[in-house]
Amino acid sequence: MRFSSPPNLGSVSRPLVPVQAVVTLLLIQCASAKMAPLGQTVEINDVAYHIHPDAIGRLESCYRPKPSSGGVLPYDLLPITIFDVGQSQYNESSLKQWIASYLAKDDVFNEGFLQGTYLRVPGPKPNIALPDASGDSRISFIRPIEAGAIDCPAGPYMLSQSTGELFMPYRLYSDTQGSFHQGVIAAKGGRFEPLSSSLAGSSSVTIGVPSRLYYKPTAQKPLSGVRLGVKDLYDLEGIKTGAGSRAYYNIYPEANVTAVPVQRLIDAGAIVIGKMKTTQFAAPEFARDAIDYQAPFNPRGDGYQEVGSSSSGPGSGMGSYEWLDLALGSDTGGSIRVPAEDNGVFGNRPSHNKVALTNTVPLGPQFDTAGFLVRDAKLWKTACEVLYSDLTTNYTKYPSKILTYDLPSTATDNVSNLVVSFIDKLSKHISATSSAYNYTSHWSQTHPAGTPSDVQEFVGNTWAILTAQEQIKLVKEPFFKAYAAKYNGRQPFVNPSTNGSWSWAGSQSNQVDVAVANKTVFMDWWNQVAMPPNRDSCSDSLFLYMFNNAQPAYRNTYTGAAIGTQGLAGVLLGLNTGFISPMAGNPDFVVPIGEVRYKSTVTAHEEKLPVSIRIMAARGCDLMLLDLINELVGAGIIPKVNTGDSLDGGPIYI
Ligand SMILES: *[C@@H]1O[C@H](CO)[C@@H](O)[C@H](O)[C@H]1NC(C)=O
Ligand SMILES: *[C@@H]1O[C@H](CO)[C@@H](O)[C@H](O)[C@H]1NC(C)=O
Ligand SMILES: *[C@@H]1O[C@H](CO)[C@@H](O)[C@H](O)[C@H]1NC(C)=O
Ligand SMILES: *[C@@H]1O[C@H](CO)[C@@H](O)[C@H](O)[C@H]1NC(C)=O
Ligand SMILES: *[C@@H]1O[C@H](CO)[C@@H](O)[C@H](O)[C@H]1NC(C)=O
Ligand SMILES: *[C@@H]1O[C@H](CO)[C@@H](O)[C@H](O)[C@H]1NC(C)=O
Ligand SMILES: *[C@@H]1O[C@H](CO)[C@@H](O)[C@H](O)[C@H]1NC(C)=O
Repeated sequence: MRFSSPPNLGSVSRPLVPVQAVVTLLLIQCASAKMAPLGQTVEINDVAYHIHPDAIGRLESCYRPKPSSGGVLPYDLLPITIFDVGQSQYNESSLKQWIASYLAKDDVFNEGFLQGTYLRVPGPKPNIALPDASGDSRISFIRPIEAGAIDCPAGPYMLSQSTGELFMPYRLYSDTQGSFHQGVIAAKGGRFEPLSSSLAGSSSVTIGVPSRLYYKPTAQKPLSGVRLGVKDLYDLEGIKTGAGSRAYYNIYPEANVTAVPVQRLIDAGAIVIGKMKTTQFAAPEFARDAIDYQAPFNPRGDGYQEVGSSSSGPGSGMGSYEWLDLALGSDTGGSIRVPAEDNGVFGNRPSHNKVALTNTVPLGPQFDTAGFLVRDAKLWKTACEVLYSDLTTNYTKYPSKILTYDLPSTATDNVSNLVVSFIDKLSKHISATSSAYNYTSHWSQTHPAGTPSDVQEFVGNTWAILTAQEQIKLVKEPFFKAYAAKYNGRQPFVNPSTNGSWSWAGSQSNQVDVAVANKTVFMDWWNQVAMPPNRDSCSDSLFLYMFNNAQPAYRNTYTGAAIGTQGLAGVLLGLNTGFISPMAGNPDFVVPIGEVRYKSTVTAHEEKLPVSIRIMAARGCDLMLLDLINELVGAGIIPKVNTGDSLDGGPIYI
């Protein structure tokens, strides 16, 4: 073990106490000082760990472990492991098995934690014979006097040899893909603190994760131990929210409350490990337009493809890191769905209004939703059940109609081959018919009295106006005011996309009310006429479309304007298919269906790009979609999603 900071730093003056010091020699009375330990950074068998400064338990009623031969650990903290051994008799081979199973299950435990071994048995008296001299020279046993002396879960710990206190080690990882804004760690009273350890020799943010061995999902805590990254639009008590803006991060204090969506996940056992990057104020940005902070990197293909906005950090992280299980994003007009497609992971825009977005930086509250980017469809369903209220569960069969919008019906290339084959397998799996559907012509035939027959004329500007004019009122105005107050009337920098949208919408009359009225009429038409509910199948139909054409989009191509129409950066005019679910409030889920090859101009090699499809259902039918997707994964119709350059897994080219 190697300590990279003075070993006794973490054990001084804990908990936080004022220290009165009088330096008599110089006849100066010093003011009181506050000192707080922030934890330590250590290496155990060449793996770096952050040691939490607060003890979580005590092993006082045990014999001290015998000093290690060779005296290689002249430190107070000793890496030890607690094993729960049930009533089984201990023997050499069973211990080997427990160690092997810990190594297989957990990326935090390593054999360096066998400096002390605590075999815990249930019942009043240990009934196992502890070997005094283990055949294995790596291991020194800690002998409990009483069973049940500690209630810490089994797993690796750091034991203070002077106090008997136990501390949690967090394995440190380097965020080489730039997916995170900041690493965080739980502190006292439900608060969080920035992770103080930083990996030496890394130019990236450092993230710490606790042992997987501590946690087991239960009915009350179905997300127990799930490592969660949170898009940096959600407040986390004790941590600043940055929303992708340097000025915003600096001007406001730490959040004093945790946003409701995050708190629901924490209450269900999720472990928040960091804040993840967002485009600035959730705007539609290309990677190259992320001026304040560099955009995260897409792991797929050559590693230099567009990463998608605005939940780009969650998308990039989920495609890249085995040590991250789940990421909370937000979707206003595609902000979960687009990065899910680009980074080849699952992503859901849920039914609107299923969780309160308190203490969350808004874009347009009429469209804002909280949802996930994730690799594991089962975990996805569990996380949705935790996050959302009142999801309909009473369907008895899947929809018998599949509507496709602008999808190929014959295979003419590798992408259409995947799409046609997916629709074919899906139709057979749920015994549904599939047919092409065009909402533009359906609208012109059935639109409500008093509305234009051209749907674009009616709601083409609605999303752009409503989001920008709401965000100007809710975010820009207080932010600019606070900045001007601090810096003598100056205004802060904003990225091109946000600046474009705020400038455009700010120059127009206030159209919030008419936009809400138009949206409501369209929503009612969609939910009653185009995609009505169904008593048996929850949704009358499934609506399938593609948003990403699975063509290379290099992050270093400078042709064309910023995202937006008519040269207006950040202004998304026109009702595109991806805006239907924001307008109508129904669920819209992204699933990868395969990959296609392309010749990369970056690696000069053939690489793979993910191909995804979006599936919509009637409002409230989120669980039906999740059940269906899980079945399709089980049947091999939807591929398993791994991290790396390909859905099959692989390296990332950096
Ligand atoms: C060790 O214990 C396990 C179960 O407790 C038992 O199955 C196994 O036979 C034992 N091995 C030896 C070598 O005693
Ligand atoms: C949190 O901070 C806000 C803004 O600074 C303040 O208005 C509010 O009262 C604080 N809430 C709590 C619970 O401290
Ligand atoms: C099933 O769910 C639908 C939609 O929420 C609801 O209208 C219907 O009453 C429910 N049926 C039963 C039997 O609970
Ligand atoms: C849908 O219909 C409109 C007009 O009716 C047409 O302009 C458009 O091309 C159609 N879209 C598709 C994908 O077929
Ligand atoms: C609302 O609909 C009217 C047509 O009825 C249209 O002229 C107007 O541009 C729309 N405005 C917005 C903001 O949706
Ligand atoms: C923001 O947009 C306005 C209007 O187009 C422009 O005058 C201004 O220079 C832009 N600001 C920045 C920082 O790009
Ligand atoms: C299409 O897929 C086949 C089989 O995987 C592959 O050999 C071929 O190179 C692909 N063609 C293109 C244009 O991607």
